[in-house]
Amino acid sequence: MKQLGALVNGKPIETAGTVDVTDPSSGEVFARTADCGPAEIDQAVMAAREAAASWRHVPVAERARVLREISRLIGRHTADLARLEAQQTGKPLRQARRDTEITGRYFDFYASAIETFYGSTIPLDDSTFVYTTWEPHGVTAHIIPWNYPLQILGRSVAPSLAMGNCCVLKPAEEAPLTALRLGELALEAGLPAGALNVVTGFGETAGAALTAHPGIDHISFTGSVEVGRLISKAAADRTIPVTMELGGKSPNIVFADAEIDRALPVIVNSILQNAGQTCSAGSRLIVQDSIHDLLVGRIAETFAAVDIGPALEDPALGPLISEVQRERVLSYIDQGRAHASIRYGGGALNGGRYGHGFFVQPTLIDGVDPASTLGQEEVFGPVLAVTAFRDADEAVRLANGTDYGLVSGVWTSDVKTAHRMVRDIVAGQVFVNTYGASGGVELPFGGFKRSGHGREKGAEGLRGFGQIKTAVIAL
Ligand code: NAI
Ligand code: MG
Repeated sequence: MKQLGALVNGKPIETAGTVDVTDPSSGEVFARTADCGPAEIDQAVMAAREAAASWRHVPVAERARVLREISRLIGRHTADLARLEAQQTGKPLRQARRDTEITGRYFDFYASAIETFYGSTIPLDDSTFVYTTWEPHGVTAHIIPWNYPLQILGRSVAPSLAMGNCCVLKPAEEAPLTALRLGELALEAGLPAGALNVVTGFGETAGAALTAHPGIDHISFTGSVEVGRLISKAAADRTIPVTMELGGKSPNIVFADAEIDRALPVIVNSILQNAGQTCSAGSRLIVQDSIHDLLVGRIAETFAAVDIGPALEDPALGPLISEVQRERVLSYIDQGRAHASIRYGGGALNGGRYGHGFFVQPTLIDGVDPASTLGQEEVFGPVLAVTAFRDADEAVRLANGTDYGLVSGVWTSDVKTAHRMVRDIVAGQVFVNTYGASGGVELPFGGFKRSGHGREKGAEGLRGFGQIKTAVIAL
C-alpha cells in the first residue's frame, strides 16, 4: 500500500496518523496520506511565507518559464496523472485524461497571461502623474474538493503563482494523490521549495487550521455552501479576501424551436459527466411543454444505453466518490420517488462489474416541483430533474428560481429568445446551443447568488490573486 507524506518546503513529511484513500470503483483502500494538524499547517505556511518573500521578485519571464515547464511535465506524465486521478475519484479514464490536459493548459495560459499583464496610467490632471501596479497577496490558501482535484488545482494555483504568490494547498481527504504528484512535478520544473506546499488531511482539522492561520493572505475555496460559510467567517476574522465557488443547480432550458439532436447528447453529458459531481452540472432540465414528452423519452433511452463501470475500464459513467455521497444522492432520489415520477434509473448498482463500488444508475425524474427539495438543492449525482414551462417568462422564472446562479444552458433557434435569456438569467455563465464550463480555461467562471463570489479562470482569474496599488505623484 502506498503511503505518502505531505509536501512541505519541498520535502515529504509524515504524521503519526494517516488518512485512507479509497478507490470508489472497488470500495477498497489503496493509499494512505499524512493526517496534517496545526503543527504541519504552521510549517507549511511558514515555508510559503519565506518562499513568497523572494518569488514575487523573480522576473515575470522566469516565473512564466517555470509555469510552462510545469505544464510540459504534466504533458509528459499525462497517462500516469490521469490514471491516478481516475483511481482516486472514480471518474472514467478519458475524463481524467481530459482534466489532466486542461490542468496543463492552466499553467500555460497563466504563464502567457502574466507576461502581458500590466498596470495602467490614469490621466487625472496636468500636475500629477498617476499609475497603478499589481502586487501579489503573499501566501494564498487553496481548499480543493474531490470532484476535479487536478483542474481546480490548476485554475487556482497557476494564476496565484503567476502573480507572485506562494501557495498552501489542502486537497480533499478523498482525493489528495494527484495534488501531491503535481507538487513533486512543480519542484522538478524548478519551482522553488516552499512555493507550493500540499498539506493532506481532513477538512475539520487540516482545512480549518489552514484557513484560520494568521500567515495566510487570501483563500480560494471550492466546495459546499456550508463549508464556504465557515471559511468566509474565518477569513472575515482577519479581513482577508476569499474566492468562493460553491456549486449550483444549473438548468438546461430547451425551447420548442431547439435542434433536439444537437441538444440531446450535450444535455445528457452535462449531468452524467463525472457522475453529476460537478459544480456546473446541468442538473435541471426546463423544457417547453410541446416537446416535453419527446425530449424526456429520448433522454430516458439514452440513459438506458449508458455504459457504467469502474473508472479504469473507461466507461461513460463511473461511481460516486464515496458511500456517504451515494447515500446522500439516493436520499434525494427517494424524494423524487415520493413527490415526482422516476422515468429511468433510481437505484444503486452492486455486485458483478460494480463490486463494492459506489455506483448509482443515471436517473431521470420528471414532474419535479420547482419549489421542492429536489428542485432546489444540489444533488451532486447523475440525477436529472425535469420541469416543463409554457413561455419564455416562465422559463426565466424557473431558471432563476433557486438560491444558486452558476451556469445555464439555453437551447433555441431564435436569436431574440437567445439574447433575451442571456440578459435575464442570473448566472455566472450562460451557454446558448452548447453547455460546459470546464473546457475553456479562458472563460471567467464563478457564481451569482449562493453559488459564490469572485471569478477564477480567464484573464479575470489572475486579478483575484493580485491587489492593485495606485501611485499618485505630484509634478
Ligand atoms: P466540503 O465542502 O466539505 O469539502 C470541500 C473541501 O473543503 C475539502 O477539501 C474538505 O476537506 C474541506 N473542508 C471541509 N470542512 C472544512 C472546514 N471546516 N474548514 C476548512 N476546510 C474544510 O464538501 P463535501 O462534504 O465533500 O461534499 C458535500 C457537498 O458539497 C456535495 O454533495 C456537493 O453538493 C458540494 N460540493 C460542491 C463542490 C463544488 O464543486 N462546488 C465540490 C465538492 C462538494
Ligand atoms: Mg463536508
